[in-house]
Amino acid sequence: MTLMTMLGAVQLGAAAACVVVVLIPMVMAGWHLSRNRILLYCGVFFITLAVCLHLTPYFPSVSDFVTSVSSVVVFDHRSTCINLVNDIAWEVKPNVSLHHFNPTHNVSSSLNLYEKRWDWSKSPKHDACDFQKLSKSDASDLLNGSWVVVAGDSQARFFTLSLLNLILGPQAKRMGSVRADLFKRHSDYSILVHEIGMKLDFVWAPYVVNLTNSMMGFKTKKSYPDVMVMGAGLWHMLHVNNASNYDFALRMLKSSVVSLLPLTASASIKSPHLFWLGMPMLINGMLNTQEKREKMSDRIWHAYDRALGDSRLLRQTGGPLVLLDIQSMTWNCGPRCTSDGMHYDLVIYEATVQVMLNALLIESHQSL
Ligand SMILES: *[C@@H]1O[C@H](CO)[C@@H](O)[C@H](O)[C@H]1NC(C)=O
Ligand SMILES: *[C@@H]1O[C@H](CO)[C@@H](O)[C@H](O)[C@H]1NC(C)=O
Ligand SMILES: *[C@@H]1O[C@H](CO)[C@@H](O)[C@H](O)[C@H]1NC(C)=O
Ligand SMILES: *[C@@H]1O[C@H](CO)[C@@H](O)[C@H](O)[C@H]1NC(C)=O
Ligand SMILES: *[C@@H]1O[C@H](CO)[C@@H](O)[C@H](O)[C@H]1NC(C)=O
Repeated sequence: MTLMTMLGAVQLGAAAACVVVVLIPMVMAGWHLSRNRILLYCGVFFITLAVCLHLTPYFPSVSDFVTSVSSVVVFDHRSTCINLVNDIAWEVKPNVSLHHFNPTHNVSSSLNLYEKRWDWSKSPKHDACDFQKLSKSDASDLLNGSWVVVAGDSQARFFTLSLLNLILGPQAKRMGSVRADLFKRHSDYSILVHEIGMKLDFVWAPYVVNLTNSMMGFKTKKSYPDVMVMGAGLWHMLHVNNASNYDFALRMLKSSVVSLLPLTASASIKSPHLFWLGMPMLINGMLNTQEKREKMSDRIWHAYDRALGDSRLLRQTGGPLVLLDIQSMTWNCGPRCTSDGMHYDLVIYEATVQVMLNALLIESHQSL
């Protein structure tokens, strides 16, 4: 065998190995393998890719192949990081400044009893995504000149409060009036943050149909926010209490969002960044009325959660919206992070805001 044919064989083998290792995880992923198994395959994929990259200079045809694969890898990195961005670990410890803990402390002051800290889970995969808590000035740079709309129920109000808290600073004089105006019952709220030319609208939209209507409104006015965060479910659960009806409403919302997206693309307007604010875990025994404890049972909660999955509204099921996973955050933070089993400590919404900002950074290919 001459040296040339040997080199040819090695080259062919390397290329074949690359193809096989690239294809296997993709095919397997289609077969709903367990998450760990997929991660294993992804690991194998990247190791092989690294080997291929090292071989590249020696084999010109592998080089062409790698060029075509690397664009897939960039895309893969982004979608991997979007999938990991909600992985938050909590540390909930007794508040050390409360030395003389009084066990008859009432519920409204119980949120002070524990100190809650959070950070993204630690693993090589998470580290590679370089998630970070954005400071006031980082967040201001990112949202400079943007129109942000947050639409939904009281969870969305708390999210809005946390976002403004970050942008304006918790000590800002304006925060007092923001709190008062934002929490007027059942009302919309709007603010212009002059310093960074950011407009923020909170839209009171307790039902999914209200979200659909506001999407239609943007379409009619041909004017779209840069960032839109939406979520609704708890009101429907309490007042309609019918998961198939919720499912139907979500499908309508999805089709209105999907019909809006190509419109913005063709008009060469930047497509809005869309997020879904998930439902919190409900802690049934802590809910504050008998009606809530009956209607908002674990069974119906799960039926509503399934409806969200079935509607394919979320990116992870092929839909348009990136999930802000309040469910996993409230589950991991636990009962010590809520006083009424439904509304959580502000720190949950602070974390959710940071998850959204990190997802925005990933989506817009930016880094700080
Ligand atoms: C809980 O404590 C606060 C102040 O510590 C008090 O204003 C409130 O009335 C108390 N609520 C109940 C139900 O005891
Ligand atoms: C701990 O308790 C003190 C006294 O009530 C309170 O001022 C402080 O905010 C609490 N810390 C946390 C993290 O809740
Ligand atoms: C916002 O953007 C404008 C123009 O793009 C710039 O002049 C201004 O300094 C920015 N402000 C902040 C706070 O980043
Ligand atoms: C939301 O939708 C419900 C049901 O269609 C309607 O009754 C209600 O007025 C709407 N609320 C808002 C704020 O648009
Ligand atoms: C629940 O909603 C579905 C779809 O809107 C409807 O067909 C069904 O009759 C409703 N079920 C009840 C018990 O109201």
